[in-house]
Amino acid sequence: MYQFNETINRLNTNAVQTEMLPLIYGRRDLMPFWIADMDIKTPEKVTQAIADRLTHGVFGYTNWKNDNFYTPIRHWFKTRFNTNVLKQDLSYAPSVLFTITEAIRLLTNEGDGVILNTPAYHNFIQLIQGNHRMIVENELFYDGYEYTMDFVQFEYLCQMPQNKVFLLCNPHNPTGKVFSEQEILKIIEICKKYDVYIISDEIHMDFVRRGQHVTLAQFMHEYDHMLVTTCLGKSFNISGIPHAYFITKDKFMSETINTKVMSVYGLAAVNLVALTVIKTAYLECADWLDELNAHIDNNMTIVEDYIADHLSDCLFFQKPDATFLAWIDFAKSGFNEIEVQDALQNVGKIATGIGNTFELSASTHFRFNVACSEEKLLEGLERIQRSFDYLKAQQEERAEI
Ligand SMILES: Cc1ncc(COP(=O)(O)O)c(C=O)c1O
Repeated sequence: MYQFNETINRLNTNAVQTEMLPLIYGRRDLMPFWIADMDIKTPEKVTQAIADRLTHGVFGYTNWKNDNFYTPIRHWFKTRFNTNVLKQDLSYAPSVLFTITEAIRLLTNEGDGVILNTPAYHNFIQLIQGNHRMIVENELFYDGYEYTMDFVQFEYLCQMPQNKVFLLCNPHNPTGKVFSEQEILKIIEICKKYDVYIISDEIHMDFVRRGQHVTLAQFMHEYDHMLVTTCLGKSFNISGIPHAYFITKDKFMSETINTKVMSVYGLAAVNLVALTVIKTAYLECADWLDELNAHIDNNMTIVEDYIADHLSDCLFFQKPDATFLAWIDFAKSGFNEIEVQDALQNVGKIATGIGNTFELSASTHFRFNVACSEEKLLEGLERIQRSFDYLKAQQEERAEI
């Protein structure tokens, strides 16, 4: 049994979750539930492997093109996702977002379209716009049970010659949607028909609790124009140890990215601590991740029950199939996002993911990270309740005047 209920103080560790509060929320005294990392310690075996590596004392240039990199990743994909990944299809990369950015830059020109399911991870929006490409929106619809993709519109968008890339996020941040095998096959079929390149960000792949993660890597033989990118940042809470990897059969893509990492960006150095983590975590820590998912599932149930018991007049939330992020809908409260965020930040003193940063239009959601101790989670929920109690009291006061 692993311990996930320790409440961890991350002050004085330069954690973005607290350091960035003044910049994003204008105040420092907020309880952080916004950024997608965990208030949970990485497995002890990983910490020990890092410590062992550090005692060597020499941290020079390091090579990833060997079995210390290939074997653990191939083992993970085989045992977790029943997928054979070939060595020659695997590459190391500095980060997931770096890989996505580079692939988009290689595949498109300025002004071209990148198809994106919305709501979307906010950095996708920023990097597409920052590289002067167009976001082409394919909105996910909540049908009262799950988020679904509009395939008629998707095919229509894929037909347009300026839309050259589909950036898939599976499992999906922020909704927690897990794309089924049927959906994946349909995506591949449509993209192949119109030669739209698929970039599949699978960084949340290890947090699928209902259903099964279907990696695009399983279908590489069906279509050459696909790239899967992921890392251990989320799974083992090591986002401060930057690294990523990608899988593709497209030799032009992998060779160009690999060459550019060095010759255009000068990023020759590989993160040797990350290589140590990949080996230990993927070969020895699967049981830790399974128990962590049980903890997260329990936390999601706590959120669902708390909302049903105390906040059902204002909030709607259904446990997602994946991720440690709760995408909570406040539409039925009748308050707008400015009012809700103002109350969360200034009354509840809580920092949640701000909905409109994930959407291209006004939002009725906030994102709430549940990867923490039960104690912290309950305090967060009480703060949310305090915020909505305040909004309702204000509304009543106004009605009486
Ligand atoms: C969907 C998704 N992709 C990528 C990232 C960031 O990955 P990296 O730090 O490797 O660029 C995140 C982090 O929250 C994410 O949620």
